[in-house]
Amino acid sequence: MWLTSSSIGRKLVMAITGLCLVLFVTFHCLMNAVAIVYPAAYNVICEFLGANWYALVASIGLAALFIIHICYAVWLTLQNRKARGTDRYAINSRPATVEWSSQNMLVLGIVILAFLAVHMIQFWAKMQLEEIRGCEGVIPPSMGTLFIQEAFSCVATPIIYIIGFIALWFHLNHGVWSMFQSIGWDNNNWLPRLKTIATWWTSIVVLLFVAQAIVFTCLASSNYYKNDPTLREQYKEVIGEKVGIPADRFSFENLPSEGDLLQAEQQLSMLEGNESMQAQYGATPEMLKQQRQMIEGYRHAINFVNYLNGNDAKAEEPAVEPAPAAAVEQPSTETQPEN
Ligand code: HEM
Repeated sequence: MWLTSSSIGRKLVMAITGLCLVLFVTFHCLMNAVAIVYPAAYNVICEFLGANWYALVASIGLAALFIIHICYAVWLTLQNRKARGTDRYAINSRPATVEWSSQNMLVLGIVILAFLAVHMIQFWAKMQLEEIRGCEGVIPPSMGTLFIQEAFSCVATPIIYIIGFIALWFHLNHGVWSMFQSIGWDNNNWLPRLKTIATWWTSIVVLLFVAQAIVFTCLASSNYYKNDPTLREQYKEVIGEKVGIPADRFSFENLPSEGDLLQAEQQLSMLEGNESMQAQYGATPEMLKQQRQMIEGYRHAINFVNYLNGNDAKAEEPAVEPAPAAAVEQPSTETQPEN
């Protein structure tokens, strides 16, 4: 195929995938800016970009872009070195930063990949991946602001990120320069202007990322994302939904104790295994399922409130002892006060 067999085709693939990645990085930077201007809206965007089919298609497309871009970069570099031999830096009309970046592309690429690995572990693995796997942690995947809180309350994060952003700036600068070279736009009159625009573009995006990392670090150090009243109200809605109680009747302040939950769970287990008791209490399988979901929801809520209030002790796992032969009392939703 022309895109793989000819040198110009390969360069074109590099240029197109590079351009798409620059657009992604720009979009990502603007999305992060929402987390500063309006954090609750940022969580709505995170929910929208969760494990829905369109977000999954976009993530797979993005991963494909990264892989193609990296593979072609290695291929073209090897091809260039073979063609130019030891004289590959002999003729040089490039700006100093581009020249430096060009000679250090491998190191820059490794630094960016290392940054991306840390970044994916801190965010993507705990958000979209957990949703795909269906095994949620204490923080629901849609609460992007709490993942920012977690990531940026670690002192190493802003340092790793800023190193990554600097590497990204050099990489983008070189990338844009070589993209124009590759597609043969090297002699046009307007090329210098285009390059200036590209340098400004990448500088603004990278500076915005740096500013965001600084703001996130400052806010996370004061636990802003855990304590802001608007965000807490939003967290309450999400957790209330898991318990199956509307936000206006659900409160973080009046959750059942772990002891209450254990008792309710034991009674439920007993009822689940005894059909005559189910008939006696008029309990349908659907009702039993709802009760189990509610208990699980409350357990999640207890863990979540412990996390928000800085008490990391997790609610205990349910006991597996035989249930006492007591009358079954269903966990009540009526005890929830107005908030
Ligand atoms: C202050 C800086 C940044 C913050 C706070 C941030 C935050 C996030 C968040 C919250 C997600 C969403 C995870 C999800 O919904 O699954 C994400 C995904 C991602 N980020 Fe960043 N990001 C930052 C910088 C960057 C930079 C500079 C790059 C690229 C060089 C980058 C590349 C990615 C990629 C590739 C994904 C995965 C997207 C997907 O799965 O569709 N991020 N980031």
